Amino acid sequence: MPLTTRIESAIAEAIRAGQGGVAPPRLASALHYATAPGGARIRPTICMSVAMACGDDRPHLSDAAATAIELIHCASLVHDDMPCFDDADVRRGKPSVHRAYSEPLALLAGDSLIVMGFEVLARAARNDPARGIELILTLGKRTGMPFGICAGQGWESEDKVDLSAYHQAKTGALFIAATQMGAIAAGQEAEPWFELGARIGEAFQVADDLRDALYDEATLGKPAGQDDLHGRPNAVAQLGVDGAIRRLKDILGGAIASIPSCPGEAQLAQLVRAYAERLTPVAPARQSH
Ligand code: IPE
Ligand code: IPE
Ligand code: MG
Ligand code: MG
Repeated sequence: MPLTTRIESAIAEAIRAGQGGVAPPRLASALHYATAPGGARIRPTICMSVAMACGDDRPHLSDAAATAIELIHCASLVHDDMPCFDDADVRRGKPSVHRAYSEPLALLAGDSLIVMGFEVLARAARNDPARGIELILTLGKRTGMPFGICAGQGWESEDKVDLSAYHQAKTGALFIAATQMGAIAAGQEAEPWFELGARIGEAFQVADDLRDALYDEATLGKPAGQDDLHGRPNAVAQLGVDGAIRRLKDILGGAIASIPSCPGEAQLAQLVRAYAERLTPVAPARQSH
């Protein structure tokens, strides 16, 4: 089965499970709206690619890991767009969840997706408790405090922000979860996979800062110029456009070098190389002259 089909069907199945029984219909519908159609699905793709590079001997675990990570990611976007955070009206080219439904439903949809992510892992852990518990702990660490998305978003309420701590927690965390959980699902140690996830995550955030500064809303499918607007610390403000592009290339070069030795190492390096090319901005729309 192609990777994208595996990812989409595992996510759809988790959402259906959350909509069953006597679920309140509007919240049930918001869960689907927040997760489909998805964005790039980059985190589950990385997670499954690492699992496959390590042999993927328990596909039900890598399916669960990839799904749980994407559910947490979708939840983080729903909350991030709410008026108390970035107050963004558009996400993935359509109205953000609180605009399409309501603020209470957006809050609840995000909460439900976070819980659902951990339920998916716990269900998979029944058949494989040792690996399952490591998966749950790893995702918990990269979702909450002090290393996870909550910490990352929390930095935005501080007067002084360390850009790399902020980026690593806000964005890097789920990429670290993606590489480590792919490895754990396939029975490998998590630790050697930290650097690859951290580097892809850092590169991703630098690229996101570049796109935010250079592209327009139509290209992005979400509001542009947000970092400037909200005064968020970001790579373009700190390094300039050329400096940020140089930094992106440096980080990604190191990412490929950091891939631990495993049966699918060469293929994984190829995937990271292809991804690096896609991440590097070309022909910036708002500064193209
Ligand atoms: C956007 O992530 C949020 C950040 C962490 C910068 P993505 O660009 O991966 O979002 P989707 O899932 O593809 O929409
Ligand atoms: C979003 O960061 C990161 C999380 C949701 C944790 P941003 O606010 O920079 O991302 P976009 O630009 O809204 O996607
Ligand atoms: Mg934000
Ligand atoms: Mg935002």
